[in-house]
Amino acid sequence: MWSQYIALSLASVFSLSFAASTFTPARPPAIPLAVKSPYVSAWQQAGSDAEDGGPGNGGYLPGEWPTFWNGQILGWTGLIRVDGTSYTWMGAPAPLPTVLNQTAFEYTSTRSTFTMDVGGEISMKITFLSPVTPTDMTRQSLPFSYVDIVVYATDGSDHDVQLYADITAEWASGDRSAVVEWEYGVTPNDTIAYHQFYRQTQLLWSEITDQTEYGSWYWATDNTANLTFQIGSDTDVRGAFTTSGRLANTNDTNFRAINDNQPTFAFAVDLGSVETTPVSTLFTIGLAQEQAIQFDGANGSVSVPSLWTSYYATELDALEFFHTDYATAAGLATTFDNKVASDSNAAGDADYVILTSLAARQAFGATQLCGTPDTPYLFLKEISSDGNVQTVDVIFPFHPILIYTNPELLKFLLDPLFINQEAGQWPNTYSIHDLGAHYPNATGHSDGNDEQQPLEECGNMLIMTLAYAQRESDTSYLSQHYNILNQWTQYLVEEALIPANQISTDDFAGALANQTNLAIKGIIGIQAMSVIANLTGNAADAANYSSIAHDYITQWQTLGIAMDADPPHTTLAYGMNDTHGLLYNLYGDKELGLGLVPQSVYDMQSNFYPTVMEEYGVPLDTRHDYTKIDWEIFVAAIASSNTTSMFISRIAAFINQTPSNRALTDLYSASTGESATLS
Ligand SMILES: *[C@@H]1O[C@H](CO)[C@@H](O)[C@H](O)[C@H]1NC(C)=O
Ligand SMILES: *[C@@H]1O[C@H](CO)[C@@H](O)[C@H](O)[C@H]1NC(C)=O
Ligand SMILES: *[C@@H]1O[C@H](CO)[C@@H](O)[C@H](O)[C@H]1NC(C)=O
Ligand SMILES: *[C@@H]1O[C@H](CO)[C@@H](O)[C@H](O)[C@H]1NC(C)=O
Ligand SMILES: *[C@@H]1O[C@H](CO)[C@@H](O)[C@H](O)[C@H]1NC(C)=O
Ligand SMILES: *[C@@H]1O[C@H](CO)[C@@H](O)[C@H](O)[C@H]1NC(C)=O
Ligand SMILES: *[C@@H]1O[C@H](CO)[C@@H](O)[C@H](O)[C@H]1NC(C)=O
Ligand SMILES: *[C@@H]1O[C@H](CO)[C@@H](O)[C@H](O)[C@H]1NC(C)=O
Ligand SMILES: *[C@@H]1O[C@H](CO)[C@@H](O)[C@H](O)[C@H]1NC(C)=O
Ligand SMILES: *[C@@H]1O[C@H](CO)[C@@H](O)[C@H](O)[C@H]1NC(C)=O
Ligand SMILES: *[C@@H]1O[C@H](CO)[C@@H](O)[C@H](O)[C@H]1NC(C)=O
Repeated sequence: MWSQYIALSLASVFSLSFAASTFTPARPPAIPLAVKSPYVSAWQQAGSDAEDGGPGNGGYLPGEWPTFWNGQILGWTGLIRVDGTSYTWMGAPAPLPTVLNQTAFEYTSTRSTFTMDVGGEISMKITFLSPVTPTDMTRQSLPFSYVDIVVYATDGSDHDVQLYADITAEWASGDRSAVVEWEYGVTPNDTIAYHQFYRQTQLLWSEITDQTEYGSWYWATDNTANLTFQIGSDTDVRGAFTTSGRLANTNDTNFRAINDNQPTFAFAVDLGSVETTPVSTLFTIGLAQEQAIQFDGANGSVSVPSLWTSYYATELDALEFFHTDYATAAGLATTFDNKVASDSNAAGDADYVILTSLAARQAFGATQLCGTPDTPYLFLKEISSDGNVQTVDVIFPFHPILIYTNPELLKFLLDPLFINQEAGQWPNTYSIHDLGAHYPNATGHSDGNDEQQPLEECGNMLIMTLAYAQRESDTSYLSQHYNILNQWTQYLVEEALIPANQISTDDFAGALANQTNLAIKGIIGIQAMSVIANLTGNAADAANYSSIAHDYITQWQTLGIAMDADPPHTTLAYGMNDTHGLLYNLYGDKELGLGLVPQSVYDMQSNFYPTVMEEYGVPLDTRHDYTKIDWEIFVAAIASSNTTSMFISRIAAFINQTPSNRALTDLYSASTGESATLS
């Protein structure tokens, strides 16, 4: 805390002479640095809200520490020495060498790129690349991320340049008094130099403040002739570089606590005389955990390995592949970045690119590929709430990005839910809410007590299972799971039209009976089952469920619409004509092409939302001022084009203007743009 405070004070003093940076396409509340898995999740806070663990400095890389998504500082320092003078390009070391002027920041779906100017003599381009390769299981399985630093002279002269980058033991545990061990090494053919560090006492399956407590961290670079390294206390190691431009090539034999003379793992590269030709230096950061998930599967609790362990014999092999793959990975990243940007422009406009390209790596960064190539699973952590595993109503807002990038991944996400419940590890007739109270323990709820959202999750499972099967023409998946899908449909037939007093996915908003939006999800779920029955040759069920769903949707329009209101709209709950809410569950009808709900309902909502639009969006419902980005986007996706644009431009404004320091939140005040605090 102390060093952070000093650093921030210094940063604000230096800011008097800062040249302002540009931010393209926007200034996110937190800038993704290394964001690849639930545990490889480093960010640069940018907002100004002190309540959010900040304040950030506005989106500048030097002068402020990066943090884990949950706010803890992750030591990560970058220095550069030009003609004997040292400058800071990343982090907030104490003492603090002159903070560089950041002139530009830009993000795409996989990259965050900062441009720094060194006294008008040298330019630096620092690119954090977290690959997203949804159709390439091998690459997607690797929980590693790149930092590429390109340096060149801008004044036509030659300059003597040395580059420095370190990370500290803070990455290894959420407990700063935990003892860490380390070693320095080079790969067998001498091409890559690496620091490896890890908790001395490995706590398998454990987390502290959401950081993981087992596995090995790697920090690596090319093992060139001009590379030096050092392990030691933060001040010793950084001091050695600022004094001499090189490190001592020494180890530190005193394994100790993270907060005891902070163990720091450093590299320095002597670039020699730098001219106008750009020189690049590549670093890799990542976490190797051979065991990924504890899973209560078909035959009881088993340890599920990280999928990469099937592709690489050792951790070092995985590291070596990743690091030497940079040219290919960068090309694949550009293809992905361009696809997301051009599809977003085609589907919306430049504002839509602001959202999609910021969300893509964050969404995949909540997941981890596990299992084996024959039986792969995608596990998902409920990040920034309670850490549940495989939460069905968190998969639901997430699943469109899989439908867009690779629907097969949706199957790998749903499979563990089917396996656990079909094996009888869940005693209730309705769908489970999640597969475990805290990641990475997917140990289920064999006592039947989870955070029950029965109507919500039955509807979600039916809709998502059909969405996957339609995209992949996988009818056998529907046959395989017909019994349990049919069982969940029975629940919906009994409960969907007149929903009991219960919570929805928006649990923080409170329980309520007769929720209009929850009812329509259940009814759409019944119609989805009719299609499933049709596709699997169950004609009687298909006809029966279709007739029930159509009957219900007719009744729902009488119960859930305030026809006399001006303009008319659906209510938060039946009969509460003065209320409204985002009718986001209508999305399933369009997604699955059911044609169950009349177009008049879509038109009515499209005309209504602009009348209750606030500065940054439409409130979730009339009980609160806050809203949710995921549900606004579901609503926008099925609205008239003017209403769609209105939602998207307000959300883009939220991203650019929110004082929040958190990684793109889904929950914020529609009027002020602050991230919502729940109590
Ligand atoms: C940063 O920019 C200011 C204003 O242009 C300038 O005075 C200062 O020397 C620059 N600092 C560095 C390290 O380039
Ligand atoms: C070192 O090994 C890696 C991984 O096997 C390989 O990609 C690379 O080409 C090798 N380099 C040399 C110089 O042999
Ligand atoms: C997971 O379960 C193990 C016991 O099997 C426990 O020690 C650990 O603390 C749990 N992890 C979390 C994050 O709750
Ligand atoms: C560094 O020191 C530790 C602790 O004494 C030792 O285990 C390790 O082998 C040393 N590593 C190197 C590369 O010398
Ligand atoms: C290594 O450093 C020396 C001394 O600064 C320099 O002359 C040489 O160009 C550097 N080599 C490379 C490959 O950067
Ligand atoms: C569970 O056990 C059964 C019977 O031994 C076996 O056929 C099946 O493959 C096992 N399933 C898994 C997922 O291990
Ligand atoms: C239709 O489904 C409901 C709910 O499962 C069931 O009670 C009813 O008997 C079914 N009717 C026919 C004709 O199959
Ligand atoms: C729910 O709506 C139904 C139909 O309008 C009504 O009969 C019932 O009383 C409502 N339940 C509650 C708790 O308001
Ligand atoms: C499925 O629907 C199609 C088109 O409505 C119909 O022709 C077919 O008979 C149905 N099949 C079953 C098994 O219900
Ligand atoms: C709500 O509006 C509907 C139609 O718009 C009307 O039939 C109903 O009586 C109203 N309910 C109340 C409580 O005012
Ligand atoms: C949509 O917006 C455009 C531009 O503001 C306007 O001309 C048009 O009338 C709007 N369309 C509808 C259906 O509101």
